Amino acid sequence: MKKFGHFDDARKEYVIQSPRTPYPWINYLGTQAFFSLISNTAGGYSFYKDARLRRITRYRYNNVPIDMGGRYFYINENGTVWNPGWSPVKTELDEYECRHGMGYTVITGKKNGLKAEVTFFVPQDYDGEVQQVVLTNESGEAKSFKLFSFAEWCLWDAQDDCTNFQRNFSTGRVEVEGSTIYHKTEYRDRRDHFAFYTVNDSIDGYDTDRDSFIGLYNGFGDPQAVIDGKATNSFADGWSPIASHYKEITLQPGESKTLVFILGYVEMPVDQKFEADGVTINKVKAHAMIEKYNTPEKVAAGLAELRAAWDKLLGIFNVDTPDDKVNRMVNIWNQYQCMVTFNLSRSASYFESGIGRGMGFRDSNQDILGFVHQIPDRARQRLIDLAATQLEDGGCYHQYQPLTKKGNSDIGGDFSDDPLWMILSVGAYIKETGDWSILDELVPYDNDDSKAKPMLDHLTVSFYHIVNNLGPHGLPLAMRADWNDCINLSCFSDTPGESFQTYTSPKFAAEGGYSKVAESVMVAALFTYVGPTYVGILKHLGKADEAAAAQAEIDKMKKNVMESAFDGEWFIRAYDAFGKKMGSSECEEGKIFIEPQGFAVMSEIGKEEGADIKTLNSVDRYLNTQYGLVLNNPAFTKYYVQYGEISTYPGGYKENAGIFTHNNAWIICAEAYAGRGDKAFEYYSKIAPAFNEEISDLHKTEPYVYGQMIAGKDASRFGEGKNSWLTGTAAWNMVAISQYIIGVQPDFDGLRVDPSIPHEWDGFTATRKFRGATYQITVKNPEHVCKGVKKLTVDGKEIEGVIVPVFEGGEHTVEVLLGC
Ligand code: BGC
Ligand code: NOJ
Repeated sequence: MKKFGHFDDARKEYVIQSPRTPYPWINYLGTQAFFSLISNTAGGYSFYKDARLRRITRYRYNNVPIDMGGRYFYINENGTVWNPGWSPVKTELDEYECRHGMGYTVITGKKNGLKAEVTFFVPQDYDGEVQQVVLTNESGEAKSFKLFSFAEWCLWDAQDDCTNFQRNFSTGRVEVEGSTIYHKTEYRDRRDHFAFYTVNDSIDGYDTDRDSFIGLYNGFGDPQAVIDGKATNSFADGWSPIASHYKEITLQPGESKTLVFILGYVEMPVDQKFEADGVTINKVKAHAMIEKYNTPEKVAAGLAELRAAWDKLLGIFNVDTPDDKVNRMVNIWNQYQCMVTFNLSRSASYFESGIGRGMGFRDSNQDILGFVHQIPDRARQRLIDLAATQLEDGGCYHQYQPLTKKGNSDIGGDFSDDPLWMILSVGAYIKETGDWSILDELVPYDNDDSKAKPMLDHLTVSFYHIVNNLGPHGLPLAMRADWNDCINLSCFSDTPGESFQTYTSPKFAAEGGYSKVAESVMVAALFTYVGPTYVGILKHLGKADEAAAAQAEIDKMKKNVMESAFDGEWFIRAYDAFGKKMGSSECEEGKIFIEPQGFAVMSEIGKEEGADIKTLNSVDRYLNTQYGLVLNNPAFTKYYVQYGEISTYPGGYKENAGIFTHNNAWIICAEAYAGRGDKAFEYYSKIAPAFNEEISDLHKTEPYVYGQMIAGKDASRFGEGKNSWLTGTAAWNMVAISQYIIGVQPDFDGLRVDPSIPHEWDGFTATRKFRGATYQITVKNPEHVCKGVKKLTVDGKEIEGVIVPVFEGGEHTVEVLLGC
């Protein structure tokens, strides 16, 4: 078992010490409009707002070898060719290091006494990636060498770029002005944006045509121009435009040279696109952008500003627990991942190609749970954008496109869980901010302003969308699918190429496209978990009758679940389209599923009969493994046409008995809720990435961020992680550790402080900024219990209960004594 680097918590960085990580370990640059993905060897790409429609540089997914395409610097010193990030040339370096930090990455390579340190970042409010290269001669002799930069342009639409070659091999256009290479494909015609790549120094040549620079039969690892030690000054005309600067450099012993490169994106008003000749790009905006970061001093200031912005964001919630790994997850990496996931939803990672999905309705709503305390204003806007794609009956478009903010009609709606997540996220927003005005905000249905209603109305139709769509057992219809969109109970797909998500069997055409028998117990449990938030909102607004009516629906649902969906030791998963139980002890395979259990426990369904503890014990007994909780057990070994996609995966992968980290969090929350802090923490530490750092060679993906899945016990690669970065796991595990284990949970009327921790902990401290005030929280655990607040004082005064009041501002001391 092996690790490939270490955490540097003081600098909020992960330091990678070998370029041969078990998978490319990446970072994200940019948080507003211009984004880049960057691996530990500088692979990756950039885009503006939308990874599909506005891709700036080209990337090759699933390539051989992996991770091909990036921003590369090549050095040729007397025929020895190398990259500071080792790849793509892969000349063995004397020293290598990659530091992934908060919104920046620093890659340093050293070869034969020449050190190259490259800092990559996207400054705040800036549509470009700044790359600062510091070259230092650490040898005792003068050194002369050649430096080449390299970026390959994407012809904007990433999908078209990798498919429509008959056209796009003949569209590429560039311009060169001094040390700046402009990419202007289609700018004259239908686009009002272009990109540029520049360096703040004179150059000795350039290339803009890929085949001239690389050579038709060479690769990124042996570009002909670099090997020849000279740029060809090629001018792209169709084919594949690139941007490469060439510079001859001599450094005396101990001497350093700093160059600043910028890869930028510019949008121009239509009437100002060209200079007077009507052909040459109007570069006024580009020049201003270049000016902004054209010296090392400006770069240092930009970096300092970025660091300060992150320090502020990460300063809102901090803990100091007896466990360093918890501290680094909570204070740094989990929060960082929440921000990245919020920004990108599921669009662009090393597992999401950026041309697939738009923003998911359920995904984005859940992302808000982990993110809302960082930038509530952006959460508010997102909630409004999401609600605007809802339909009048409470159903929702499953996805929307970030550029247009319109619901995606190709995918459509009818996913049974979608509306509920919005109640949860709007509730989380109000609990965090106390901003009840969001409920009065007029938000369209179906993006149609004439159908605008207050946000509260959106919550009401969401709630009643469940109530109005029940099946034979009074449980919510599964419709096309629920949260687990691999359980497609209405699908019955037996034809290759059909989408499990969008296909509803003609068999159910008369019933409206999905089975009116298949019911989701997970949605039932989610309804009873989320419902009280809706009731709480109504009560706060003084709508007592509506609150009572909603509560009655919740109570009825709980009863229905106990009557028809409690299997004796756990909750079943669903009724399928034949009306048969799924996830029951009666089943041959897939006897127990994880998804309904946590929500049912937290809703206290059947608590008086001990259903909660029985359920948690069953989860432990049947789903718990060395590396986390599997989604279902036993794994499916056959294809069940009535279940769909879930049974297509080999056992142990993805939704078929993989360790799906997203829903592990629901059990962590439930264990903590039930007061079993030891179990909650056991599950937390099995999947939290920092705890898996020591087994990085097995775990494979980045030890600083969650992945969607870890292969389950049925898989030959048990313990191997996949699909890192963009996953609801980030938000839910942030909720699990901060609100359930650490137990600091915003509520409508204050901050609930009710920890559920491992009994060994002597206590911990936490700082929480909340509605303008700062709470300094100290928790003491002299009796070594897991849960139970014995005494709670606020500013020295003991209070009743566990809800710390809201203050106008200032700093407040909260002291919590745990015990029996
Ligand atoms: C994946 C799911 C994903 C779904 C929607 C499925 O193929 O297995 O994890 O949620 O696609 O894109
Ligand atoms: C990933 C998707 O993004 C999410 O929406 C879904 O709920 C899970 N997969 C489970 O299938």
